[in-house]
Amino acid sequence: MEENIISTPAEPKKRIFSGVQPSGNITLGNYLGAIKNWVDLQDKYECIYAMMDLHTITVRQTPAELRKRTLELLALYIAAGIDPEKCIMFVQSHNSAHAELGWILNCYTYMGELQRMTQFKDKSARHADNINAGLFTYPVLMAADILLYQTDYVPVGKDQLQHIEICRDIANRFNSLYGNVFKIPEGLLTKSGAKIMSLQDPTKKMSKSDENPKAFISMMDDFNVIAKKIKSAVTDSEGVIEYRPDDESKAGINNLISIMAAVTGKAPESIAQEFSGQGYGVFKAAVADAVVETVRPIREEYDRLIKDKAYLQGIYKNGAESAHRLANRTLKKVYKKVGFVVE
Ligand code: TYM
Repeated sequence: MEENIISTPAEPKKRIFSGVQPSGNITLGNYLGAIKNWVDLQDKYECIYAMMDLHTITVRQTPAELRKRTLELLALYIAAGIDPEKCIMFVQSHNSAHAELGWILNCYTYMGELQRMTQFKDKSARHADNINAGLFTYPVLMAADILLYQTDYVPVGKDQLQHIEICRDIANRFNSLYGNVFKIPEGLLTKSGAKIMSLQDPTKKMSKSDENPKAFISMMDDFNVIAKKIKSAVTDSEGVIEYRPDDESKAGINNLISIMAAVTGKAPESIAQEFSGQGYGVFKAAVADAVVETVRPIREEYDRLIKDKAYLQGIYKNGAESAHRLANRTLKKVYKKVGFVVE
């Protein structure tokens, strides 16, 4: 008997969306928690990575600085290994669909939900003189970013998971009113880099807006500055290299072990074993070397790319065109569903 051959069409690639705000020094936390992971995902998925400039103005920015940092961030994405031939990269404000869907979703989000957001609470405490409405509705714009592209996965650090949760809630609410308009996205975390902590207060996350520059490593820091910051990282007086993620008194050492694990790809437990019995000084020097060797090739490539403005412009212009095309499909559908007259 003849065999029945059923040809199955190739499954379409799942889609990834993520972005970083060009609001300050891009830190080792941003790299290990997000960008590094994006590089690893680009072969398997259809990836869209944006420079999230609309989000940055929820806190006052110097206009010329913001413009400069946005281009620098694109150069850093590419230098870190994101291939413009494989991924769409664009500036968020170049695609007006983000602000448009953001408005609509505002009307499907409750004040109470937004009041619970940790980032809103933190940022409004830090910028008490400028608690603007944009800061409050920030997660709605972020939901629009993600939902416009019918995104499957959102690779981020742990601090953004709450925003992905609210994005899912908004999408489910909208879908239950109007049918299946949005795909429900999932967050994706890296193994060791999902929450890199401050080097000066290891109970707080490493943040680009930290007032103390010793607390974070900027991807733009001189190599000797990077080494110095790691060598002066706050640890404990126990003097034992052990990975105890639930023990707050080991927060400093846990963090250095996590950083080492993230840059080497090894498990934190095996790093702890490798250095067990050694002094903190020896371990810190090894972490400093490993971080510098991770940052060095990225910086060399960055220095080359940042001089080539025409190349970078070509990438973000192409990226905006593709992003616009994809996003408009979703936006048109949303307009129709909510009852706007279709043009
Ligand atoms: P942002 O710019 O604060 O951070 C960019 C990415 O870096 C991650 N990250 C960290 N990961 C590990 N350890 C840390 N210490 C650390 N600090 C930051 C963040 O989790 C993030 O993945 N709201 C977002 C930007 C955004 C976005 C989006 C992201 C706007 N729209 C849509 C994904 C999808 C933010 O402020 O990231």
